[in-house]
Amino acid sequence: VEDPSSSHQPNGTPAQTRNKVPFIIGVAGGTASGKTTVCNVIISRLRDQRVVLINQDSFYHSLSDEQSANAHDYNFDHPDSFNTELLLSCMETLRKGQPVNIPSYDYKIHKSTGSGRMVNQVDVIILEGILVLHDQRVRDLMNMKIFVDSDSDVRLGRRIKRDTVERGRNIQYVLDQYAKHVKPSFEEFILPSKKYADVIIPRGSDNDVAIDLIVQHIHTKLGQHDLCKIYQNLFVIPSTFQI
Ligand code: ADP
Ligand code: C5P
Repeated sequence: VEDPSSSHQPNGTPAQTRNKVPFIIGVAGGTASGKTTVCNVIISRLRDQRVVLINQDSFYHSLSDEQSANAHDYNFDHPDSFNTELLLSCMETLRKGQPVNIPSYDYKIHKSTGSGRMVNQVDVIILEGILVLHDQRVRDLMNMKIFVDSDSDVRLGRRIKRDTVERGRNIQYVLDQYAKHVKPSFEEFILPSKKYADVIIPRGSDNDVAIDLIVQHIHTKLGQHDLCKIYQNLFVIPSTFQI
């Protein structure tokens, strides 16, 4: 499997010759529900397309040093903790087929770091994050909206493991943050956004049937798009009939 965080185009079709609006998929769900894992499975099955995975976490506002020292008071699960304007402008640029810089984020220091990464023209954009279905302007960009629905106890267990191993936290910190911010915000903002999903995936990446159906749908939609382009070249179809 290629690096899913970068765009790829393995089937030999020259990138510059495939000029169309990308198909945009949003993948939301609670913390550690398996969003990234599901996205990586989908990406591994879309090998003939140029796909980019964009993480909403890349658009967290950086904390000041003072805020960072008191990060336990900060609610990273509230919609206002993201720079949604920047996310929208990056998505718009990519939609137009222009290259864009996606910031990098460091969970240990709660700041954007480095110069980010450049993303070029792609066929499919997968936007993943706890709150990607919360803001209507972001939802309106999406061709397909997915909510990964995993049991809360399972998610908390995974989160403890991940945050202590990968994000430099201790168990007490993770549990306090979960009770104070993560769980209340899940109930207030993330769970209510499930109603906007076209597809809900119970059990995350364990759900082979749901992932199969989603991949089939994406292939169908991308195929329709390519077919429409061929007909358009042959018969000059008015733009209102374009997919
Ligand atoms: P999210 O992107 O929603 O935060 P991830 O996909 O990163 O979730 O998964 C969080 C953690 O749980 C990771 O360590 C991942 O390996 C693990 N995980 C995800 N899905 C499963 C699964 N179906 N079975 C076991 N572990 C899983
Ligand atoms: O990968 P996942 O979807 O779990 O990432 C989102 C989570 O990251 C949020 O629940 C938020 O509490 C957490 N987070 C954090 N520290 C940060 C930024 C985000 O604990 N600096």
